[in-house]
Amino acid sequence: MKATAKAHTNIALIKYWGKRDEALILPTNNSLSVTLDGFYTTTTVSYKPELTKDTFTLNDEVVVGEQYNRVTNFLNKVRDIAGKQLYAEVKSINAVPTAAGFASSASGFAALAAAATKAIGLSLTESELSRLTRQGSGSACRSIFGGFAEWQKGEMEDGSDSFAVPVAPKDHWDIRVAAVVLNAKMKKLSSRSGMKRTVETSPFFKGWVESIPSDLEAIKQGILERDFHKVGEVAEANCLKMHATTLGANPPFTYWLDTTMSVMQTVQELRSTGVPAYFTIDAGPNVKVLYLPQDEEKVLETLRNISGVTDVRLSRVGQGIKYLEDEELV
Ligand code: ADP
Ligand code: DP6
Ligand code: CO
Repeated sequence: MKATAKAHTNIALIKYWGKRDEALILPTNNSLSVTLDGFYTTTTVSYKPELTKDTFTLNDEVVVGEQYNRVTNFLNKVRDIAGKQLYAEVKSINAVPTAAGFASSASGFAALAAAATKAIGLSLTESELSRLTRQGSGSACRSIFGGFAEWQKGEMEDGSDSFAVPVAPKDHWDIRVAAVVLNAKMKKLSSRSGMKRTVETSPFFKGWVESIPSDLEAIKQGILERDFHKVGEVAEANCLKMHATTLGANPPFTYWLDTTMSVMQTVQELRSTGVPAYFTIDAGPNVKVLYLPQDEEKVLETLRNISGVTDVRLSRVGQGIKYLEDEELV
């Protein structure tokens, strides 16, 4: 009745931004991401008959309030599927800043889903696990898989066809991602609240959704052909379109800082000197830069020299969910 799982975060190249069903977490559009090896969560779930409610520690601190509710609501779904009413002790360690736009909800809920289902005795297929994980945090359904994965929004009202599928495995292509840290503090507006406000109030949201199919087709082709320019161009443009929708919301908002703009401009300048590098940004101020292995030194040096940058963390393409045995835990 105990299991541990490790899951990596992912960075969306085509963003999930908007829900058509908030309770089931069904998105308005397909999204596509690359799993990152540099950021991850390790979660242990133990079901214990003596518990009268779930307990949750994150980085060895007891969690209460909204973050606790998200975990216990998710465990309720696992208990329903398994038909067992046992409470659990959940211990999670984030090797990623929490709620700062580094996709901690993706690695966090993917690790939780994998550990919680295994510990309760369920053996789900990857598709089934992805579909369940989606209900913890949408972006997390893509972290079940390594390499490149697409979350198919699905058509059904019950969410039965809304889960991620692999697009290309980890070993398909060695691209790199530099996470440029400007501010690793918790954001004021969660991804969940930000996208809700955008769907409800931004007149730009319709244009965003309409622009997805062609971006998705182009990026999938780019990934399969290992065409870095194509992938980078589409990802950067898609990110800018997503962030543009927030400026149209009421009240308007942005996740960017002035330093976010500095990094974006520096990446574009770097490109004009012949180094292929492209940026993308999730719901937070920090920027992720896509580049190729041969340019690592140049990219790293350039990013580190930007004023306001506190850290640059490098990732390769990461693997999917992994179950750990006790002796592997550190
Ligand atoms: P992020 O950019 O980090 O994904 P979000 O606003 O999407 O930010 O989600 C952050 C929330 O995800 C946290 O406030 C918490 O509720 C949840 N979360 C983060 N890490 C974990 C974890 N290891 N286990 C369970 N839930 C987590
Ligand atoms: C900008 O998956 O964190 O990172 O489903 O409400 O938990 P919830 O939101 P979340 O949103 C991620 C938004 C994004 C884009 C992406 O990862 O696709
Ligand atoms: Co998130």
